[in-house]
Amino acid sequence: MASSGEFLVTRGLGKTFQDENRTKTVLSGIDLELSFRDCLAIVGPSGCGKTTLLLALAGLLPPTTGTVAFQGHPLSAPERKIALVLQHYGLFPWKTAGANIALGARLQGIEISAKKLASVKKELDIEGLDHLYPAQLSGGQRQRVALARALLLSPLLLLLDEPFAAIDTVTRERLQNNLLAVFSQRKFSFVIVTHNIEEAVFLGRRIIVLDNKNHGIGAVVENPEMGSIEYRGKPLFFERTTALRNILEEFE
Ligand SMILES: Nc1ncnc2c1ncn2[C@@H]1O[C@H](COP(=O)(O)OP(=O)(O)OP(=O)(O)O)[C@@H](O)[C@H]1O
Ligand SMILES: [Mg+2]
Repeated sequence: MASSGEFLVTRGLGKTFQDENRTKTVLSGIDLELSFRDCLAIVGPSGCGKTTLLLALAGLLPPTTGTVAFQGHPLSAPERKIALVLQHYGLFPWKTAGANIALGARLQGIEISAKKLASVKKELDIEGLDHLYPAQLSGGQRQRVALARALLLSPLLLLLDEPFAAIDTVTRERLQNNLLAVFSQRKFSFVIVTHNIEEAVFLGRRIIVLDNKNHGIGAVVENPEMGSIEYRGKPLFFERTTALRNILEEFE
């Protein structure tokens, strides 16, 4: 597979928006590298450009400057092998859970076998919810439906924008465990945007902190020891969360 850095690379990525009469810089000079089967967490204050960066990595938002390359090719349009789970689940309220799960694959013209569908639902513990509408699901169930829809596309890169926000701590940790289990069994990389320090340390082999002032990467925390559920209870986990908290306080 691709050697380190070739899977997903950004160079000098910048994004500005035109806000009334002025140009607003949101991202500037972002250099990122992610290997295949690696995972990255992105944290930073609200409004610092996390969602903007994720949309650029999805090929949905062209950068103003710099480049995004996926598997060695410039990314200039949405790519089949990249799945995105949006900040607020992105489920259609008028479609049932079952229809929502199937929708991503249907839109991309991908045939999903009943066996694969059943195995993803089992993996995420959402069997028996097919007939319910999103409003009838709990936050955690909605999140897993959104995750199922993305995983059914068998992405090589999964982009997650605050996927477990607004979910109680116990359910949230269960969902994080779910994601880690799926990650260790399947072949993909993921990038997770989160506001939650513990989540970033549990799920990111590298954690980048976006800096509101310079619009770039303010700090990088290497976290190679992640990858097991037991990590959450280890002293090193607490050391890393404390270190990350201290860094974040500098950038708030
Ligand atoms: N299409 C757009 N047009 C103009 N400004 C935009 C647009 N999209 C985002 N922005 C601005 O860019 C900045 C970054 O937005 P973004 O959604 O990336 O932040 P975020 O880090 O994801 O925040 P949060 O943590 O609250 O989700 C904000 O100031 C936002 O108003
Ligand atoms: Mg956001």
